[in-house]
Amino acid sequence: MTPAFDHTDPSAPKTGDPVIVPVELGQRRYNITIGPGLMLKADQFLAPILTGRQVVIIADEAVATPWLEQLEIALNRITDCHHVMTAGGESAKSFSRYTELMENILNHGITRQTVIVALGGGVIGDLAGFMAASLLRGLDYIQIPTTLLSQVDSSVGGKTGINASAGKNLVGAFHQPRAVLIDTDCLSTLPDREMRAGYAEVVKYGLLGHADFFDWLEEHGAAVLKREPYQLVEAIRRCCQAKADIVAADETENGIRALLNLGHTFAHAFEAEAGYDGRLLHGEAVAAGLGHAFALSRRLGFIDGQSCHRVAKHLEAMGLANWRHGLPADMANANIDQLIRHMAKDKKAQSGELVFVLVRAIGDAFVEKGIKPQEIAAVLAAANMDDALS
Ligand SMILES: NC(=O)c1ccc[n+]([C@@H]2O[C@H](COP(=O)([O-])OP(=O)(O)OC[C@H]3O[C@@H](n4cnc5c(N)ncnc54)[C@H](O)[C@@H]3O)[C@@H](O)[C@H]2O)c1
Repeated sequence: MTPAFDHTDPSAPKTGDPVIVPVELGQRRYNITIGPGLMLKADQFLAPILTGRQVVIIADEAVATPWLEQLEIALNRITDCHHVMTAGGESAKSFSRYTELMENILNHGITRQTVIVALGGGVIGDLAGFMAASLLRGLDYIQIPTTLLSQVDSSVGGKTGINASAGKNLVGAFHQPRAVLIDTDCLSTLPDREMRAGYAEVVKYGLLGHADFFDWLEEHGAAVLKREPYQLVEAIRRCCQAKADIVAADETENGIRALLNLGHTFAHAFEAEAGYDGRLLHGEAVAAGLGHAFALSRRLGFIDGQSCHRVAKHLEAMGLANWRHGLPADMANANIDQLIRHMAKDKKAQSGELVFVLVRAIGDAFVEKGIKPQEIAAVLAAANMDDALS
């Protein structure tokens, strides 16, 4: 297989060695290490942080075999480590699961030297990260993400939290991990549907600030979804680098970090309407959200229609719905006023104003406030991208 790396970029991987992307946050700086086969070598990468310290792994049951087994073999070489397992999926980001796991860990006995390791997708990463932030007023933790979505997005940047009945991610903390270890082999056991959902977040990075990466994805996206090793590492590296740059510039989302929400105001409304029961995955909602965000940008005169068609075509080619009517949770019948009410409740809404990330071009996103609900309703009323642009 021919490596498809951009050899003009000095940090691009050229051999099978793991790739390291630093997140430059001063004293809280950490590395993201990316590559295949890293789980069995986790001790080599994590020894400076873990040696001699008690480790509690919070693991998704779905990754018990073989990933948790491999991780424990590696970490037992350098630490006293034990695990707590829990089911993944959005319902795990709940007060009840948080309390149950906190009690379990506290009863086991921990100290301020204990390190929490999150092994699983974005759900386990957000939950375990929040546990680490609140246990003994803040323990060190490490992210070992096992879904594409968590490898390219949620494991980096220190946003942790759980859901409340009033909405998603409403209880949480900014708490940066001490390291992120990404073993791309984990994706070999990930269902294809989850892989595609994670790919929506990959596309997002190309659309919000890196047009050349979107060009690359048009050529290599299918190889990424097939988990071709070189293309997979390269796609994850590009996303992690983009996120690391944004987080280093705006750690607590007072400015450009908001661009990472491209497509998400629509997506969160679709998810809220679907009810977080697994029928609609976060990434599936994001893909449709990207389609709507481009259509809204077109409607408001910021972008040309050709770019909107290009984005819609790529999402479709990758097996992702670019419009709410194609979503698995039957969003075609959703009430438009209700969807807009969900948007107004989104925690990113400011003083009742709807906030959207819009685009001037592929790779050029910006934040816009005060968009009239009629404009959003007009986009939501369209049956597909063609209809929205006509
Ligand atoms: N903190 C952030 O910055 C941030 C950013 C984006 C998304 N998120 C959050 O991430 C969550 C979504 O994450 P997700 O898509 O990873 O969902 P997830 O953690 O629920 O994982 C998806 C499914 O895959 C299973 N799974 C995980 N790894 C596996 C593997 N290697 N093999 C087989 N099955 C595996 C899980 O059990 C689950 O059923 C949402 O709650 C979202 O809010 C957080």
